[in-house]
Amino acid sequence: MKDLLKLLDLSGDEITKILDMADQLKYDLKHGIAHEYLKGKTLAMIFEKNSTRTRVSFETGIYQLGGHGIFLSGSDSQLGRGEPIKDTARVLERYCDGIMIRTFEQEKVEELADYAGIPVINGLTDFEHPCQVLADLMTIRERMSRLKGLKVCYIGDGNNMANSIIIGALKCGMDVSVACPRQYRPDKRALDFAKTVTDAKFTLTEDKMEAAKDADVLFTDVWASMGMESEAKARMQAFTGYQINDEVMKAAKPHALVQHCLPAHRGEEITDEVFEKHADEIFEEAENRLHAQKAVMVLLMGG
Ligand code: CP
Ligand code: NVA
Repeated sequence: MKDLLKLLDLSGDEITKILDMADQLKYDLKHGIAHEYLKGKTLAMIFEKNSTRTRVSFETGIYQLGGHGIFLSGSDSQLGRGEPIKDTARVLERYCDGIMIRTFEQEKVEELADYAGIPVINGLTDFEHPCQVLADLMTIRERMSRLKGLKVCYIGDGNNMANSIIIGALKCGMDVSVACPRQYRPDKRALDFAKTVTDAKFTLTEDKMEAAKDADVLFTDVWASMGMESEAKARMQAFTGYQINDEVMKAAKPHALVQHCLPAHRGEEITDEVFEKHADEIFEEAENRLHAQKAVMVLLMGG
C-alpha cells in the first residue's frame, strides 16, 4: 500500500490492519505512551474544500507522531492560480514525506499520486471519504466487538460517504442496505463493486424502512455536499422522507448505533432527538478520525 486514494483499492485485510493499529495508537495515547514514528517528517495538507475535523485531526495526529503538518489552502497556494496538480506533486515530494488532499474530482487525487513519489492520502473527494469510513468502522468494531455479519444501513444522498460505506463495510464482511431516491443513487463504481461481493449482502431501495429493518448501525449524511450548494433547494425536496427519526430507529435493532460524519443538519437528514440520543457514539466517531489517520500515516509514511 503506497497511498490511501480510495477504499476500493484496499483489501479487507488491509483495512483490518489499519483498524488494529488505530486501536493500539488510541490505547497508547490514552495511557500516555508516546510514539515518534514520524519524527522529523512533514505532511502537506491541501484543502480545496472546507474542513474542521480532517484538518485538525491530521495536523494533531502528525504532531503527536513527532512530525509536522503544513496547511495549504486551495485558494492561497498556487493551485488556486492554476498550477497543474502534476507540477505540485513533483514539488511537494521534494520537501515533504506525504500529502493529504481534500478536493472535488477523484481523478485529481489519482493524478497527484501518479506524479508524487511520496504517499498520498485522500481527505475527501466527490467519490470517496476513506479516512472517515475507516474511523467509522473503528467505532463500530469498538462498540460492537466485531464487524463481520453486522448490518449497516445508510439513508440519504448516494454521495462520497455512501460510496465509502458501501465499499468499506462490504469489504469487512458487513451486510449493507442503502435507501435513497432513484436519481441520487451511489456512484456506479461502488454499485459495481457491490455486485462482485459474495460473502455479504447488499440492498439498494427507495424505502428507508425496508433498509433500516434490523440494522445494527444507521448512517446518514447531509443532503447537499460541499460543491452542491446551488442544488440545495431541489435536494431538500427530493430527500424529504429520507430522515433518520424515531420511526426509523424503531425498525432497527434495539441497541443500534447511529453514525454521522458531521457536520450534521438537524431537522434535515436526522432529527435533533435522535442525534442527541446517539451523540456519544457520533463524537467518538469524530475522535476516531485522529487515531485511524495516525495509523494510516504510520503505515504509509513510517517506513
Ligand atoms: N467529517 C469530516 O470530514 O469533517 P470536516 O469536513 O470538518 O473535515
Ligand atoms: N458528503 C459531505 C461530507 C462532509 C464531511 C460532503 O462531501 O460535503
